[in-house]
Amino acid sequence: MKKIFSGLNTPGKERGKRNRVWYPYTRMKDPALFPCISSGSGARLTDTRGKEYIDAISSWWTNTHGHCHPHISEMIAKQVTRLDHVIFAGYTHMPAEILAERLIKKLPAGQEKIFFSDDGSTAVEVALKMAVNYWYNRNKPRWKFIAFLGGYHGDTFGAMSVSHRGIFTRPFNPLLFNAVFIDAPVKGKEERCINRMKSILSGKSSGIAAFIFEPLVQGAGGMVMYEPEPLNELLRLCRNKGVITIADEVMTGFGRSGKFFAVDYLREKPDIMCLSKGLTGGAMAMGITSCNGKIFNAFLSDDPAKTFFHGHSYTANPVACSAAIASLDMMDRQRTWKKIAIITKKNAAFAVKISGHKSIKDARSRGTILAIEVRTGNKTGYLNPFRDYAIRWFRKKGILIRPLGNVLYIMPPFCIESKDLQHVYGSIERFLDNHERLTG
Ligand SMILES: Cc1ncc(COP(=O)(O)O)c(C=O)c1O
Repeated sequence: MKKIFSGLNTPGKERGKRNRVWYPYTRMKDPALFPCISSGSGARLTDTRGKEYIDAISSWWTNTHGHCHPHISEMIAKQVTRLDHVIFAGYTHMPAEILAERLIKKLPAGQEKIFFSDDGSTAVEVALKMAVNYWYNRNKPRWKFIAFLGGYHGDTFGAMSVSHRGIFTRPFNPLLFNAVFIDAPVKGKEERCINRMKSILSGKSSGIAAFIFEPLVQGAGGMVMYEPEPLNELLRLCRNKGVITIADEVMTGFGRSGKFFAVDYLREKPDIMCLSKGLTGGAMAMGITSCNGKIFNAFLSDDPAKTFFHGHSYTANPVACSAAIASLDMMDRQRTWKKIAIITKKNAAFAVKISGHKSIKDARSRGTILAIEVRTGNKTGYLNPFRDYAIRWFRKKGILIRPLGNVLYIMPPFCIESKDLQHVYGSIERFLDNHERLTG
C-alpha cells in the first residue's frame, strides 16, 4: 500500500502505477493521463505535480463548502475515533438522531421522517420503493410512475427506469420498468405539460403511484431550467388525485438553487424528498429520503408484512452523519448565505452579459448554477466531441469543468473567492471567443 501511495505522489512515476482502476463515465482509453489530485482546500484542488485547479463544478456538485473544510474535517476526525460504524437496525446513535432532527427543521413543512441510504441513486430507489410500498400497504396496489423527459435520477435500475431513456440507459432499456414520460414545463411547453398531466391522471384506472421530478433544474439532462408556477400546478393536480409526489433534490438541495431547497420556491410541497451530494458538504457519501406523515403512517401497522424491508450495510454511517451535521452548521452561518447570494447575482449578471455572444444559443442561471448552451452545429448530445475539447482547454487554464454535451456549466463551492470566480468567467469568455474563431 505504502508503495502505491509513494508512487502516486512522486511526479513522473504516476503513470505506470495507474492501470487498475475503471473510472465512472469514462471512455477507458487514456486514464493514465488524468491529473492525480493529492490535496484540496476551499475551491482549489492540487495535483501531485503541484498544479492547482479551481473546482468550478464542486466535484460532481457535491462540495458545497469547499474541500477539506476545517469544521467538517474536524467533526469527521472526532467521530471516527469515537464510533466508526454500527448496524442501524435494532441500534441507533446520536449523530443520526441529531441529523434527522435538524434536517426536519430545514425541510418544508410536513416532512416528518428521515430514511438513510448511501448516495443520490439509493435515495431515489428508496423513494420509489416507499411510494409503491405505500399503495401496497393500503391494499390498493399501484406501480406506475410519471417522470419528465430529459430527467436524470441516478444509475441504479429503478432510478434509470424513471430517467430519460438515452445513451446512459440504452443497454438496459428492456430491463427497465415503464414510466409515463411527459415534457418538462420549460418555457413554451408549460400548457402542454399540464394538459398531459391532467389527461394521464383523469384516466380512472391510471394506477399512477407517484410523480418524480427534479425541481426547477434538470441537472444531468443539460441544466434545463423551468419556473416554479407550472410545477405548483402539476403538484396540485397530483395532490387532488392522491398521487404521491417525489422531489429529487439530490442536485438542487442545500443552497444550490439559491434557497435551501428548490421546493422552497413552491407553494405546493412534495410528499417525499431525495437528498445527497451537498448533504455532507461533499465530504462523505450519504443519501437521505424524507417523507411526510401520510407516507409514513401507511407503514405503521401490527402486521409485520407492512414493514419497509429496505436497508444498506452503511445506512446512517455515524461518520457521514457527523459530516452532514457539520455541513448544516455551515448552512446556519450567515456568511454562507451571503456567499450564495453573491454567486447567484454574479451568475445572473454573467448570463446576461454573454447572452449575445455568437458562440452560444442560450445562457441561464438559477442560484449558484450557471449554464451556457454552446453552438456546436448539429452535434449536441452527451457524446459531442466539444465536451472533451472543453475539459482539456479549461484544465490547461487550471479550471475543473465537465460540460454535459454542448452545455458548459459551473456550480462552484459557495466559498469560492471572488478572484477565482472572476477567473472562471473570464476564461469562459476567452473560450467562447476562441470557439467562435474555430467554428465561425
Ligand atoms: C437529480 C439527481 N438525482 C440522482 C442522482 C444520482 O446521484 P448519485 O450519483 O449520488 O447516485 C443525481 C446525480 O447526478 C442527480 O443529479
